Amino acid sequence: MADPFLLAFVLLAVAVGVAYFGFFSFLFGAGYQPTPRAAVETMLRFAEAGPTDTVYDLGAGTGAIVFRAARRCGSTVVGVEVEPIRVLILRLRRALGPARGRITLRWGDLFRLDYRPATIVTAFLWPGAMGRLRPKLESELKPGARVVSHCHAVPGWTAQAYDRKTDVYLYRWPEAAAGGTPPATGGT
Ligand SMILES: C[S@@+](CC[C@H](N)C(=O)[O-])C[C@H]1O[C@@H](n2cnc3c(N)ncnc32)[C@H](O)[C@@H]1O
Repeated sequence: MADPFLLAFVLLAVAVGVAYFGFFSFLFGAGYQPTPRAAVETMLRFAEAGPTDTVYDLGAGTGAIVFRAARRCGSTVVGVEVEPIRVLILRLRRALGPARGRITLRWGDLFRLDYRPATIVTAFLWPGAMGRLRPKLESELKPGARVVSHCHAVPGWTAQAYDRKTDVYLYRWPEAAAGGTPPATGGT
């Protein structure tokens, strides 16, 4: 029969591991939850991602957006992630995948990255982080850049499109900050 103390220790270790993996990065801007495939598809379609684009995924997680954008759209992709285990998973996936030459991975804080080379920014972050992101986007994005966000809007910006089914917002810089009529929230 299994030692009850050993069993309790293993269960505790698993619980601590799961809590760490999911919640550690809350302190920085969002916990871990992969962007659902349907939302990734809407984000890349809304942004019209293609081979001439440079996609910045802010909080790359384990790569739901990074690898799809590089493989399916042929885009150059920069993924930034703060949590080291996810960075390791991203690096392993890149090493084993076909689009490795188009993918740059950075271990660090997304608020310290320079977004000027980005033509597309993708995000699935908590509302507080979206608020902190806004002034940085406004000072660094080039005209024509697209921002696509899953779940949470950029506060104070006007979305050019919103897909209710997958909960994805599309913004174009600088039009998004100029105001205007927000899209109906009835899908695309
Ligand atoms: C909701 S997940 C989205 C993951 C990924 N974009 C995807 O499509 O699956 C948010 C990710 O952002 C990361 N994150 C949160 N704050 C961050 C920060 N300040 N800098 C870099 N990454 C951050 C978290 O560790 C987490 O992996």
